[in-house]
Amino acid sequence: MSAVGIPRTRADGALKVTGAARYAADWPIEGLRHAVLVGATIPRGRLTRLDVTAAQHAPGVVAVLTHRTAPRLHPVPHPPIGQTLLPLQDERILHDGQPIALVVAERLEQAVEAAALVRVEYEGEPAVVCLEDALGLAYTPKEAHAAPDTRVGDLDAGLRAADSVVDATYATAARHHNAMEPSATTAEWRDGELTLHDATQWVWGVREAVATALGLELERVRVIAAFTGGGFGAKGWAWSHQLLAAMAARALGCAVKLVLTRAQGFSSHGYQPATRQQVSLGARADGRLTAIRHESVNATSTYDEYAELAVAGTRSLYACPAIHTRSRVAPVSTITPTPMRAPHEGPGMFALESALDELAYALRLDPLELRLRNHADRDPTSGKRFSSKQLRACYLRGAERFGWPERPLPPRSLRDGHDLVGWGMASAIMTTFRMSASARVRVHRDGSVVVEAGCQEIGTGVYTILPQIAAEALGCPVDRVSLRLGDTHLPETCGTFGSSTTLTVGSAVHDAGRRLRARLTGMGVPADFRFEGDALGELLARHGVASVEADASWAPTGDGDWSMHSFGAVFAEVRVDADLCLPRVTRCVGAYSAGRIVNPTLARSQMIGGMTWGIGQALLERSETDRRLGRFLAKNLTGYLVPVNADAPTPEVLFVDEDDPNASAIGARGIGELSAVGVGAAIANAVHHATGVRVRELPITPEHLLLS
Ligand code: MOS
Repeated sequence: MSAVGIPRTRADGALKVTGAARYAADWPIEGLRHAVLVGATIPRGRLTRLDVTAAQHAPGVVAVLTHRTAPRLHPVPHPPIGQTLLPLQDERILHDGQPIALVVAERLEQAVEAAALVRVEYEGEPAVVCLEDALGLAYTPKEAHAAPDTRVGDLDAGLRAADSVVDATYATAARHHNAMEPSATTAEWRDGELTLHDATQWVWGVREAVATALGLELERVRVIAAFTGGGFGAKGWAWSHQLLAAMAARALGCAVKLVLTRAQGFSSHGYQPATRQQVSLGARADGRLTAIRHESVNATSTYDEYAELAVAGTRSLYACPAIHTRSRVAPVSTITPTPMRAPHEGPGMFALESALDELAYALRLDPLELRLRNHADRDPTSGKRFSSKQLRACYLRGAERFGWPERPLPPRSLRDGHDLVGWGMASAIMTTFRMSASARVRVHRDGSVVVEAGCQEIGTGVYTILPQIAAEALGCPVDRVSLRLGDTHLPETCGTFGSSTTLTVGSAVHDAGRRLRARLTGMGVPADFRFEGDALGELLARHGVASVEADASWAPTGDGDWSMHSFGAVFAEVRVDADLCLPRVTRCVGAYSAGRIVNPTLARSQMIGGMTWGIGQALLERSETDRRLGRFLAKNLTGYLVPVNADAPTPEVLFVDEDDPNASAIGARGIGELSAVGVGAAIANAVHHATGVRVRELPITPEHLLLS
């Protein structure tokens, strides 16, 4: 019985649309207190006066914590915490929004009211607040998740051998995650134990951060996240609000709820930093690349390093004898940046794939043909074979679906009434992040099957997918299987990031299901037994047991042998009003090579979400910095544009048939973040095709086109 590969709608869909799904801020706990965070309003300096007297005496206020009254915290490694700066420890201010007080009251309205009564004076210090002003301060990061620099081959020789060279600088904007559910924590202190209901992508990371900071044994902290309302990286690591809620709950011996406001979503957790990238490409007249140089610098905070490795994908995408990449970070006075879907390759492929398009025009070659001629059969930097790669099929199938062969090469050659029409394409590549995970599968006498794995459901469909994998491994109908997740009391898994849950936790569930099947076989079940009807319950009853279970752990192997990436080809059509210069995406096709697809319905949803996110990156999303005030200007979604239905067509998604046994026990690689890669470049390339204007920064706005 195959349950994997079958389209199934979300098992938790009804719970979510009826409001029955319980999120971090939804837990009714007796005696719950409400906390409100007060943030600094300067980017750098120190507090000279912090008067909380009026706030303390306001109606309903239980406590006001400040750096003078808050408990001292122990240092926490970064990660699991998003930044090493701990809240309420001294009078130093290192970023706008840095917590300076936590007001706790009986009711939320009382806490909000009292928070407004906190009186603050600062002594400001000069601060560099955006990447443009910090470029001269750039340095090589020491803490990147991969080597920041690579050098393969002789770059100068490659450039000298080239018939055509492209040399250009690209920029991507700072962006914020803006998950539908704001970051939120309900912390309860009871009998020396702390329980957090947290909006997180990593319950174990939050547990470690909170336990370490508060000096508690790990066993005394439990973190639960039954549902997380989107994260996109903002909830990957722990930030100040979890520590503050936990600190207050312990200090007051009660339950404390802290929900970041929409505005605090722009200052109280990390963001995707702005990047500045330089790309040089050299190619022979036939299009074959002779040299690739990609250098990137991103903003980080003044006290921590976050390396946005925009060059990551460039190391593996195209066959080329000389590839040099370099990454640097430049300190600015903001909170520490953090991964945001899709980190690294998301900003990076905008630069590389725009440059490829420029090279195609320099060579008078079709942009798709240029990519086909440079297809890499092995990883060009490491020399390793790819675990599995179907990029060629992505190019061809995507192009066919889009109608790419009809495309005239010259810019400004398609018109429809008042609109300039353009077609652009780009490649997509995303590192396959693999981590370890454990899981348990149990059958009960009533024939029900329960899967337990502590991972999080952040909107990707875990409640549906993991039961499918268990059902296949066990050979039982999928509707028998339910899932318990999001709890540090369950088998430990990695965090929900790097698009890794299905392949990682799925592999553990698959192995646990197989082991359980073997255990049942040991109890006399024939190898080809189908667990249908009451057969399973009857078997357990015969053996006089209430349930049988099996545990499994999965850890990646073969990292040294393979280059592991998911791939894609993205095609976009834009229309640009000839007078108003407003660019709009009218069609978008993505064809993907991502290993085995466990659930085509939910996989398609992931890709639609990511491609729409890419449309936002291309045309709308930008967190602008107010240089004078030293803060991000946007405080809500009227100042930060994300695509709505009117901005985005429903993208078309194709998956190439694939099975990658080298990547995971279930043949899957990561899909979610891949879909946000390449879209920005495909759209920028389409804008160039429509208008003849090459815009080398995102987002592309009418101003870029009006002024050129
Ligand atoms: Mo993702 S940006 O790895 O949560």
